[in-house]
Amino acid sequence: MLVCGLDFGTSNTAVALPTGAVLSLDEKAPQPRLFRSVLFFPEDSRETLAGHEAIERYQEDNAGRFIQSMKTWLPATTFTRTQLRGRTLSLEELIAVFLRRVRTLASASAGEEVSSVVLGRPARFSTEAKTDAFAEARLKQAATLAGFTDVRFVIEPIAAALAYESTLTRDEVVLVADFGAGTSDLTVMHLGPSRRGRADRKSDVVASSGVYVGGDRFDSAIMKSALLKYFGQGSTYTVGHSTQRLPMPSYISSRLLSWNEMSLIREKTTRELIDLMLESSDRLPAIEALNDLVMENLGFRLYRAIERAKVELSTKKEARIDFEEARITIHETITLEAFEAATTHLIDELEVCTDELLARLPKDLTIDSVFLTGGSSQVPSVQRLFARKFGNEKLRTADAFTSVVEGLGRAAASTFSD
Ligand SMILES: Nc1ncnc2c1ncn2[C@@H]1O[C@H](COP(=O)(O)OP(=O)(O)OP(=O)(O)O)[C@@H](O)[C@H]1O
Ligand SMILES: [Mg+2]
Repeated sequence: MLVCGLDFGTSNTAVALPTGAVLSLDEKAPQPRLFRSVLFFPEDSRETLAGHEAIERYQEDNAGRFIQSMKTWLPATTFTRTQLRGRTLSLEELIAVFLRRVRTLASASAGEEVSSVVLGRPARFSTEAKTDAFAEARLKQAATLAGFTDVRFVIEPIAAALAYESTLTRDEVVLVADFGAGTSDLTVMHLGPSRRGRADRKSDVVASSGVYVGGDRFDSAIMKSALLKYFGQGSTYTVGHSTQRLPMPSYISSRLLSWNEMSLIREKTTRELIDLMLESSDRLPAIEALNDLVMENLGFRLYRAIERAKVELSTKKEARIDFEEARITIHETITLEAFEAATTHLIDELEVCTDELLARLPKDLTIDSVFLTGGSSQVPSVQRLFARKFGNEKLRTADAFTSVVEGLGRAAASTFSD
């Protein structure tokens, strides 16, 4: 029986052994060690697909239920159950379906049944202690349902820091900043040779904070600033024989800012509104594009194109979005400058959160280094913010995608040795 560390991320999931070695979970995926945190239940079969395979199948034929960002629902007390293939599933059961698949793949990859797990969890699921405990209990229940017999938690920034700590030769006070898809978590902690290897590291944490700024919101900002014009923003329409032209309601555009909220537009009243606009809009091609985006469920694909452009902007001065599907034709160049102008509010939110955290630190404490991790740590303006606040020489990075899981694997070694 094997123990392992498991990072169940909003967009990526990974599993590591106690040595810190990250398991290859899916050889067919572009990045075999990163398993996309998604499920797809095709309408025309009883199969349940997960990870890269789910994305591939959904892209071929999107009839069915595609589920992503499950982790962000954990603290939502209003989200308790969902209907799937005529069955009612609790959120715990749904996440268990995903985690069971991950456990099976990890066991196959390791050549031994994975039984116990150290699971990562955000520094804070919620600022409310009760909600935070509720979210953790649900995740624990899901892992148990997935067949893990012993489930323990380590907060993600601590896990990320453990990988960094293994490289340290003297003690340091470190700000660990993990920028994921859904949230950014900041934790100030003591690290170093004198503390390494302790089973419980909670007492090494000086302070922590978190904010809902992550890759998903950077994607939404691209949609909002550059692409809404392709979907009728600013257009007008008329009702009946009235000569008065009405602007397209802003709630329609705001639902386009996250691909999984787009389906709400298919509700009857909005559907009727789109039909009205299809008859009388002053920008018919854009309303046709809106109609197809929503009715043909193309939001996921569009957001993949947006994400690709964002990733490109981490190393280039401009990126193109070329998207032609149904009656949607987008050819747009996004410059780094425009991207940064559209995302200053996110950088500001990160700065406010960082300042609040720093203000809570004991006066005599100085930060020796700042460890940046998580996919969104690659965004140049995120790196610049921390370079400006702490100095370039204090910034440290490791593999943005695997440092958390490596640390969870190492934590599994010490946690289950007692
Ligand atoms: N090169 C890049 N430049 C900018 N953003 C990137 C890059 N590569 C990945 N991302 C973004 O990083 C995010 C995924 O990061 P990561 O895998 O660390 O998140 P996660 O662990 O799944 O989420 P969370 O920690 O919030 O639960 C996505 O939003 C993705 O678009
Ligand atoms: Mg993460």
